[in-house]
Amino acid sequence: MVYNLKNLIDKLYQESSLTSQELTFLLKNLDEENKKYLFQKSYSRRLENYGNTVFLRGLIEISSYCKMDCNYCGLRRSNKDAQRYRLTPEEILECCLKGYRLGFRTFVLQGGEDSWFTDERLVELIKKIREACPDAAVTLSLGERSPESYQKLYSAGADRYLLRHETADGELYSSLHPGMDFQHRRQCLKTLKEIGFQTGAGFLIGLPDLKIEDYVKDLLFLKELNPHMVGLGPFIPQKNTPMKDEKRGDVETTLVMLALVRLLLPHVLLPATTALGTIDPQGREKGFRVGANVIMPNLSPFENRAKYALYDGKKFQNDEAAEELKKIKENIAAAGFLAVMERGDNISWKRK
Ligand code: 5AD
Repeated sequence: MVYNLKNLIDKLYQESSLTSQELTFLLKNLDEENKKYLFQKSYSRRLENYGNTVFLRGLIEISSYCKMDCNYCGLRRSNKDAQRYRLTPEEILECCLKGYRLGFRTFVLQGGEDSWFTDERLVELIKKIREACPDAAVTLSLGERSPESYQKLYSAGADRYLLRHETADGELYSSLHPGMDFQHRRQCLKTLKEIGFQTGAGFLIGLPDLKIEDYVKDLLFLKELNPHMVGLGPFIPQKNTPMKDEKRGDVETTLVMLALVRLLLPHVLLPATTALGTIDPQGREKGFRVGANVIMPNLSPFENRAKYALYDGKKFQNDEAAEELKKIKENIAAAGFLAVMERGDNISWKRK
C-alpha cells in the first residue's frame, strides 16, 4: 500500500491515531519536507492543549542502588564500578523543602530498584512531603513493585508514577533486561493506571538493532495504554555496561518520536529529557518545538549528582540544576516558551 505522507500526517492530526501499516509507511518514507510538516502539526497540537507553557519538575535521585541488571544502565547491579549512595528520608524531605522554597510544585523521586525503600518507609516519607508541601504533586519513579505496594503509595498521597516500558518488543525486552518480562511490565503499568496514578510510560530511542517496526510497536503500545505522561530519550552508552561500545540514539529520531507521541496522545505530559539535552545542547528547545512540555531540573544534593550515572556525560549542571532556576526560565523564555512552576497535572486526570 502506498500512502500520501501529508495526508497521513493530516489524518494523525485529526484522529490522533494511525494504523500499524500507516505508521510504518510514515516512518520509512519521512523526508525532510514532511518531517517539517509533522513538526508543525505536533507543535500546533501542543499549543492547543498546553499553550506555550513548559512545566518544571524538581527531580530527586534518591538511590543509585539497584537490584536489577538492565544491560544499558550504569546503575545495573553487576556494575562494580558504580558509585552507590542512598539518601535518607530526612535528606529527601530537605530536597523537597529546598525545591518548594524555589517554587517547585512537583517532586519526582526517582531511584534504582532499591529494597531499602520499603512500602512503610515510602508511605511515611510521602505523607511527610505532602504535609510539608500541601499544594505540590509527588511523582515516583521506583520501578516494578506489587499492586499492593502501588496502592499504598497512592493512598499515602503520591499522584504520579513513571515506569518506562523501555521497548514494546517482548524479545528485545527480555534480552535487555535479564530476568524481566515485558508482560509483567505492561501489567504494572495497567495496575498503576487502574489505581488512579497519573501514569508514565516511554521508550528508548536508538537501541542497537531497533527497527522501524519496533518503534511502531512502541507507539501503538502507548496509544493503547493511553498514559498521562511519556518519557523518551536517546539511548546513550555507559562505559561500565555490556553496551558500552554501541552507537547512541540520535536527535532527529528522538524529535520524530516526540512529535508522533504528541499527536497520538494529545493531552500527554511529555518531557524534553536530560538525555536529549545531553546529546544536543539545543535538544530541549528543539523538543519543545515539536511538542514536549516538561523539564525536570535536578534537585538532588550536589555531591550525589555525578554518582547517578545512568549513561556517560549525563548533564547535571547549568540547565539541569534546579538552583539555576533563573537561567532555566530565561532560556525557556528565549526559546519562546513560558516556564510554569504549578503542579501541572495532565488535563484529563482527577484524583480517585
Ligand atoms: N541511556 C539512556 N537512557 C537510559 N536510561 C537508563 N540507562 C540509559 C542509557 N544508557 C533510562 C531508562 C530508565 C530511565 C530512568 O533512564 O529509560 O527508565
